Amino acid sequence: MPQASSPIGVFDSGVGGLSVLRALLAAMPHERFVYLADSANAPYGERGDAYVAARTHAITQYLCEQHQIKALVVACNTATAAAIHEVRSRHPALPLVGLEPAVKPALAVTKTGHVGVIGTRGTLTSAKFGKLMASLADQAHFVVQPCDGLAHAIERSVAQPEPPPESTGAAVGSTETGALCQRYIEAMGPFGTAPGQMDTLVLGCTHYIFVAHELRALVGPGVQFIETGEPVARQTQRLLAAADLLRVPAETPPGQPPAQPPGATPPVQLLTTGPVTMLEAAAQRWLDLPASCCQSVQVP
Ligand code: DGL
Repeated sequence: MPQASSPIGVFDSGVGGLSVLRALLAAMPHERFVYLADSANAPYGERGDAYVAARTHAITQYLCEQHQIKALVVACNTATAAAIHEVRSRHPALPLVGLEPAVKPALAVTKTGHVGVIGTRGTLTSAKFGKLMASLADQAHFVVQPCDGLAHAIERSVAQPEPPPESTGAAVGSTETGALCQRYIEAMGPFGTAPGQMDTLVLGCTHYIFVAHELRALVGPGVQFIETGEPVARQTQRLLAAADLLRVPAETPPGQPPAQPPGATPPVQLLTTGPVTMLEAAAQRWLDLPASCCQSVQVP
């Protein structure tokens, strides 16, 4: 039976969900987290619903049995679209948070009424997303662009040295991720704040936050990016509070860092079904977490 001291499970097809974990850690620094990247089977976006649903169920089962998680954040739009309803019915007692492209919040910020949405093919062609778009169709003009290969290229880019920030403008198009961003953004039409231009871009895949600088160089400074990390963190916190499962931080003497008892499980465990070196690089680059948090696992 999970307790308040149990970890929160978070999973994605790969390293993209680390963007959600970053928001969860910022909102709930006292919680323990176990993150699973299914990198051996990424990307999910072009795999088809049955495959993604089977992986989602296997991973949920694994996190419940091996880590006694007290809540699950499906930090993957593609897995949410393919399987969240079924996960909910198989684990009715588990507080569960899924992700979907934040098109409703985009409506609240667009001034031109033209909104771009990027995501995986799996997410954007799903029945769930189709229903959402149908319910909002008369409220804005949406341009929806599946970005085949982009999440996979982001996974691969983790192994490459990080480009210096000042070179990113000039470098867009010269890297694999930059070339893909350029192809898809150009295919969508004009971005900007003038009438008829898209002034809002919904990042409908958790991987894409890690190429935000490349997207920014392409769409210009006036376009607003909408992502889901912070609202998901708030929703997770609400569900845990409602279930009386929020972790109460241990008392520490004033001015001293919280004590970590020797041999205790670290507050963040990062697991991957793929190469651990990739997860280590991503954890270091995006979350400033040490390699000692990372471990490779098998989830058949
Ligand atoms: N990061 C995932 C999402 O939010 C999936 C990327 C992929 O594996 O294709 O949809």
